[in-house]
Amino acid sequence: MTDHVTVTDEDSARIITMRRPDKKNALTQGMYTAMADAINSAQSDPNIRSIVISGGPGVFTAGNDLEDFARANTSNDDSSRPMAATLFLRALADNEKPLIGAVDGIAVGVGTTMLFHCDYVVAGSTATFSTPFIHLGLVPEAASSLLAPRVMGHQRAFSMLVMGRTVTAEEAREAGFVNAVVAPGHTEAEARKIAREIGSLPKDAVALTRKLLKPAREDVQRRMDEESHHFGERLKSDEARNAFSAFFARKKKA
Ligand code: COA
Repeated sequence: MTDHVTVTDEDSARIITMRRPDKKNALTQGMYTAMADAINSAQSDPNIRSIVISGGPGVFTAGNDLEDFARANTSNDDSSRPMAATLFLRALADNEKPLIGAVDGIAVGVGTTMLFHCDYVVAGSTATFSTPFIHLGLVPEAASSLLAPRVMGHQRAFSMLVMGRTVTAEEAREAGFVNAVVAPGHTEAEARKIAREIGSLPKDAVALTRKLLKPAREDVQRRMDEESHHFGERLKSDEARNAFSAFFARKKKA
């Protein structure tokens, strides 16, 4: 149980909202679990026609909680990544309902890579998207190494995933992983509008057409497993340890 995620069903949509604003919605194990449960339990509910993931106003998420990563760096446990994060990524890969992202502000790390699983993304005009795995000595996750080049082409994916460059909402729209850019503070309302539109379409045809557009689930899962193996090794590397220490040292000095 966590207070940092709320789940509400409205009309035909399930709205999942990350709510940890004092930590820029950085994702804890409890938050991953709550989000995975909300996605998984929506699958068998015929009244839910789409799922919206939102960070509320002003921020999407600063990605995985870096304290969790730092703990994984020093633990003797061989598991690649804490289980809850893995279950969340699996829930994204298994999800069969149209998924809508509402990004108002920063989307870092898994905050951006989860969007490659979305079917429609609304961004506030001040939103930014970054996958700074490289700066942390890590590798991409959430099958982003497969999905990002597929949606935006190799070169753009290279600049984000290998060079760690940040892109703006407008650049993300041009790159193809954001559908619409709206005024800041209006993303969730727009996402709900899209959910209502999808909810009014023929349900079975939507499900089938969406499935035809997506890469095979097994390919996505296989890539997640491959990334996860490397990710687990990189988490324990000196490059990663130094990057985590630098982030928290920066906070102490400020
Ligand atoms: N994990 C844990 N805590 C985080 C966090 C994260 N990923 N991102 C932000 N926070 C915390 C900060 O430590 C700070 O906590 P404090 O007030 O107790 O010191 C609080 O959230 C606000 O963050 P702050 O850095 O002051 O905000 P900012 O607007 O100056 O910068 C970011 C925002 C997102 C650019 C910056 O926090 C950042 O770079 N975070 C790390 C992002 C990251 O590397 N994520 C993992 C990707 S794989």
